[in-house]
Amino acid sequence: MASIVSPPQKTVDIQQNKMISIKELAESGGLTSVPSEYTFASNPNDQADQNDPDHSMPTIDFSLIMSTSPDQRSKILHDLRKACEEWGFFMVINHGVPESLMKNMIEVCQGFFNLPEEEKKVYQTRNLLDPIKCGTSFNVEIDKVLLWRDFLKVISHPQFHSLPKPEGYSEVSLEFSKRIREVATELLRAISETLELEADYIEKSMNWDQGLQILAANYYPACPDPENAIGIPPHTDHGLLTILIQNDMGGLQVQHKGKWVNWNAIPNSLVVNLGDHMQILTNDKYKSVWHRAVVNNKAPRISIAVPHGPSLETVVVPAPELVEKQGQPPAYKGISYHDFLDLQQSAKCYMKSCLDAIRL
Ligand code: OGA
Ligand code: NI
Repeated sequence: MASIVSPPQKTVDIQQNKMISIKELAESGGLTSVPSEYTFASNPNDQADQNDPDHSMPTIDFSLIMSTSPDQRSKILHDLRKACEEWGFFMVINHGVPESLMKNMIEVCQGFFNLPEEEKKVYQTRNLLDPIKCGTSFNVEIDKVLLWRDFLKVISHPQFHSLPKPEGYSEVSLEFSKRIREVATELLRAISETLELEADYIEKSMNWDQGLQILAANYYPACPDPENAIGIPPHTDHGLLTILIQNDMGGLQVQHKGKWVNWNAIPNSLVVNLGDHMQILTNDKYKSVWHRAVVNNKAPRISIAVPHGPSLETVVVPAPELVEKQGQPPAYKGISYHDFLDLQQSAKCYMKSCLDAIRL
């Protein structure tokens, strides 16, 4: 009986560095299906319901957080508490980060991904905390399925790092990282207040002055069969909070009340989500929410996620003040942020929340 022989697919040999990027693979032409290394079978029950009407995703008006009117402030703190409790994800509008700066940031990141593979390769590294890292997937040493995304991660705080190429990256990313960090600082103050703690409680206990900030750009090429690949599988973010911007190709999905929801961001809003260290600090009052990035078959998507965390040496424990108020024992053992990041990269946490590894 004759068997059907399909034409050989291009494959990826990361170990031998023959191909580093999904961008190169996807944009080389001729790819009509998802190569087997990238085939990600998602559970049909886990599809986001495209037809769900507006889920009333929370929107926080940043100008009200900065307001001196006690009425406005107490209303916005109420909304923020609700957003943190019910979603762990919210959109921030009137944040003051110029639209042009957000666009330029996306453009310079696009410029980086457009560089020849040879020039990007010098930033390939296995060391988690190298200041500049680029690569594909998540951690190719442990990933069982490769992700349909390339990334560039640059540490921008406590030390600012940059790249000589593409032109403009340095200036734009410096300004962007500062402006985003200012928003993050104000949000943390407000979040402290929603917990009935002093406004600077989180800053002080997390050694925010030396806190980690990473500019993590994701590049998701168009995919011939988006149902069978994944940009980033379900995960929670490390750190206290992540602020994300993106181009106009949606793809972020958030788990809410057990269902996956398409995050339909208001253009030019900042997407904010709480991270694992917020969950530890609040002893589970505010959750680090599961989310994922799906891909599309139309055009490349770029997002820039900016996680903000404590200083690397900070040992994060549930805040004693909250534990006392809740009348419940601490849910987590203390672990330094640095050790937590190592844990997150390990096979032990593959497709799982690291929080389970430190739960008491
Ligand atoms: C991330 C992330 C989602 C997106 O980088 O951690 O969740 O929409 N990104 O790109
Ligand atoms: Ni994330």
